[in-house]
Amino acid sequence: MKKSYKVLVAVAGLGLLGGYTASSLPAAGGELDNQLVVETQQFPPGSFQSPGSCMGCHLEIHQEWSNSMHAYAWQNRWYQDDYRLAHAETAGATDLLCGACHAPIAARTGQLPPHDGSRFDDTARQGISCDFCHTISGVERLYNMGNISDPGPVKRGNRGDGSSPFHEVEFSPLHTSTEFCGACHNVRHPIGDVPIIDTYDDWKEGPYAEAGITCQNCHMTPTPGIGKNPGKSSFMGQERDNVAFHGFVGGSSFTQRKLGNEEQARLAEEQLRAAAQLQLEGKVADGKLALTVHVDNVGAGHKIPTGVTYIRKMWLEVKVLDAGGKTVFHSGYVDEANHVDPEAVFYRLLFTDSEGNLTGKSWQATGIGYDRRIPAKGRDSETYAITLPGKGDYEAQVRLMYRSFSQESLDFHEGEKAPKVESVEMARASIAIARK
Ligand code: HEC
Ligand code: HEC
Ligand code: HEC
Ligand code: HEC
Ligand code: HEC
Repeated sequence: MKKSYKVLVAVAGLGLLGGYTASSLPAAGGELDNQLVVETQQFPPGSFQSPGSCMGCHLEIHQEWSNSMHAYAWQNRWYQDDYRLAHAETAGATDLLCGACHAPIAARTGQLPPHDGSRFDDTARQGISCDFCHTISGVERLYNMGNISDPGPVKRGNRGDGSSPFHEVEFSPLHTSTEFCGACHNVRHPIGDVPIIDTYDDWKEGPYAEAGITCQNCHMTPTPGIGKNPGKSSFMGQERDNVAFHGFVGGSSFTQRKLGNEEQARLAEEQLRAAAQLQLEGKVADGKLALTVHVDNVGAGHKIPTGVTYIRKMWLEVKVLDAGGKTVFHSGYVDEANHVDPEAVFYRLLFTDSEGNLTGKSWQATGIGYDRRIPAKGRDSETYAITLPGKGDYEAQVRLMYRSFSQESLDFHEGEKAPKVESVEMARASIAIARK
């Protein structure tokens, strides 16, 4: 078994800064010739055990994991939409870049390319699974899937004091550290290094790293914040006061509901609601209301939103009603086509492409064009100038909203059969206003 831990190399001929389209890429001489990155660690197919082979003894963990986005990292239809568009627009140059994280077993066992998954075995299709994570032996790079694999009988984890008739166990400090997650939860464009996902870097620079609170502390417990999950990780194992929860709950309630995982969807909504709080201040002068909305990131260990924020949408909905309940001001509304008011205050990130236009296509990123996110334990404030039509009492109602996708992008990918994206309320507040 040949192992090499070299940094993924950018293939020559792609030195041009972004703007690469099908026509600006070198002609593909072979399947791998046009890849932006190549996978240097290669193992024979079958080197990683299937999640089904862990299920018998780790039943609960298997159940939790199978509802997590990690299990759907490859099959998930909205990942596939974006990945296929990237493939089409780069003549396949992004296949292994994306696949390294979303189908890591396929990428490391020669099943990718071809990009369409036609050579995947059943284990490869199940995204980021048990044996991939538990045979990671090191990290060589804290972005673009810099984890080192060492598949085999040794399963590495946070203890090392248990014993299993099926495998060896080894204590791995790496598995208890954020670096383990950071190798994937940090994405850089291979040309020009534009940060595409910066969750790890952002955590590292923030107050939670300082306090020693890790990704696992918040995302490997069944409740938002740092919780406890007493029990056994295997019916054959020891009683523990906290067993690592494997649902990896983020904000994907919409996707989870579409997949039929109602409980996981509920957990995701709970996670989103734990992230932020709103505070309002209103001042009336000359018939005008100056309404200041403060958004505090009280629960996330990183900016909100984080991750693929160029795909997600977080925004403020601000409504002012008169005493009769009539709306006199409305920003951030959702229209009949399920589109969000384009004038709303949006918290997200967008890239610039080679022409300087804003884009949400990560592969075209040559720079950051828009970035408004709220740092961990930080605050964002926005003041709205609102005309109050007459004397009397009013109420301002504000909601912080979240969507996993923009309706426009789903419509683009799927046309009429695109489902309506759900909006999740992360926080709400209201205040009474009087114009004298
Ligand atoms: C994304 C990577 C990842 C995947 C996928 C994953 N695990 Fe884990 N697992 C971890 C990490 C990280 C820890 C240690 C957590 C900690 O330090 O609290 C862990 C802990 C464990 C533990 C020890 C639990 C305890 O607290 O005693 C077991 C057992 C385990 N995993 C089994 C599995 C099985 C079985 C699967 C598949 C059904 C699986 N894991 C999938 C990353 C993963
Ligand atoms: C025959 C039963 C059995 C099977 C099958 C099995 N395990 Fe385990 N595993 C155990 C037992 C028992 C423990 C010890 C649990 C304890 O004492 O807390 C364990 C512990 C672990 C740990 C914790 C390591 C540590 O100490 O930090 C990991 C990780 C793990 N298993 C991964 C896997 C993976 C991945 C698979 C599938 C490829 C798998 N196991 C299949 C029985 C099994
Ligand atoms: C092999 C790469 C890899 C590793 C290692 C990894 N992740 Fe992930 N993670 C992903 C990918 C890819 C997704 C997105 C899957 C999708 O939605 O298509 C994801 C999704 C998630 C989500 C769900 C986000 C949502 O929107 O619901 C959370 C939470 C998460 N990971 C946390 C962690 C934590 C914590 C660790 C470390 C213990 C970790 N991940 C390790 C690649 C990885
Ligand atoms: C203090 C607790 C805490 C810590 C520490 C933490 N997170 Fe989170 N995370 C949250 C909360 C709350 C949310 C929900 C808000 C959101 O989705 O932005 C979240 C959301 C996420 C999401 C989903 C983003 C989306 O909406 O698409 C991912 C992915 C994620 N975290 C990964 C990580 C990783 C990786 C680390 C470590 C580098 C980490 N988190 C550390 C609390 C935490
Ligand atoms: C270094 C690892 C890594 C690479 C490389 C990577 N991703 Fe991801 N991707 C992630 C992580 C981590 C998440 C989860 C972040 C979140 O939920 O906000 C994610 C989430 C996504 C999502 C959202 C899926 C969902 O369920 O909502 C899409 C779409 C996506 N990636 C597309 C791509 C495409 C296309 C490429 C290649 C151009 C790519 N990714 C390359 C790590 C990676």
